[in-house]
Amino acid sequence: MDILVERADGVLTIAFNRPDRKNAITAAMYQAMADALVEAHSDASVRAILIRGSIGIFSAGNDLEDFMKSPAGGENSPVFQFLRGISSAEKPVVASVAGPAVGIGTTLLLHCDLVYAAESATFSLPFTQLGLCPEAASSLLLQRVAGYQGAAEKLLLGEAFDAKEAQRMGFVNRLLPVAEVDAFAKAQALKLAALPASSLRVTKALMKRAAQHEIQTQIAEEAVHFGKMLLAPEAREAFKAFFEKRKPDFRQFD
Ligand code: COA
Repeated sequence: MDILVERADGVLTIAFNRPDRKNAITAAMYQAMADALVEAHSDASVRAILIRGSIGIFSAGNDLEDFMKSPAGGENSPVFQFLRGISSAEKPVVASVAGPAVGIGTTLLLHCDLVYAAESATFSLPFTQLGLCPEAASSLLLQRVAGYQGAAEKLLLGEAFDAKEAQRMGFVNRLLPVAEVDAFAKAQALKLAALPASSLRVTKALMKRAAQHEIQTQIAEEAVHFGKMLLAPEAREAFKAFFEKRKPDFRQFD
């Protein structure tokens, strides 16, 4: 199972479990996560959600082979079901990042309520390096937390940055030694699960509701561009280069 879903003590845990591919996310994995979020929503015994990867890797983002084989998205595709689920989750979502978080591995964190990361974790939004554009409303949300120039540097250059910088930017709450981050995040989720669910629900709704329409619009607008760019020669060259373990050559394109 590439996604493990576990329910215990009021916390539903979604764990990436594909370490041989650096927890790269396939359509089947998005579907499993989307289904788990629906289950979390409808099951009153679930009071908090925890998302984690493996020690040493959070997620390498979208599976690039999947991108090459079946780039078509669409509103009901697994990735959009997942994005809708996480961006509109009513229950608190905690993330534990114990290694690199690439692409959607980073952008999904912008929808979480509490994010804990290993001091050694790294983050990257390599969309332009892949001939793509931002997704998951990151073109809106990253500048909300980091300011325009802070977000522009990460989204235009697409270079990886370290956990200290992610914390300074504002989307990581706290840094911990790598061996401690999962346990700490779980303890925080358990604390949330012990609080009155109605209080958490209203508090989160009050903080999130005003931005909700804008976020969903941004996700949809990004998706239109992203879908077209996936089919364009720049992205094809970038994916091919990744698997051929070479640098892409974008000079051939205007
Ligand atoms: N999709 C498909 N396969 C992937 C992948 C992805 N997103 N990320 C890694 N893999 C595969 C590699 O091809 C490699 O396969 P191999 O063993 O057959 O050569 C294996 O997973 C291990 O990856 P590797 O790159 O050797 O690991 P690393 O520890 O040196 O680097 C990452 C880890 C995550 C930094 C690096 O794999 C990476 O940058 N991945 C691509 C991220 C990306 O561009 N994602 C899309 C964002 S939109």
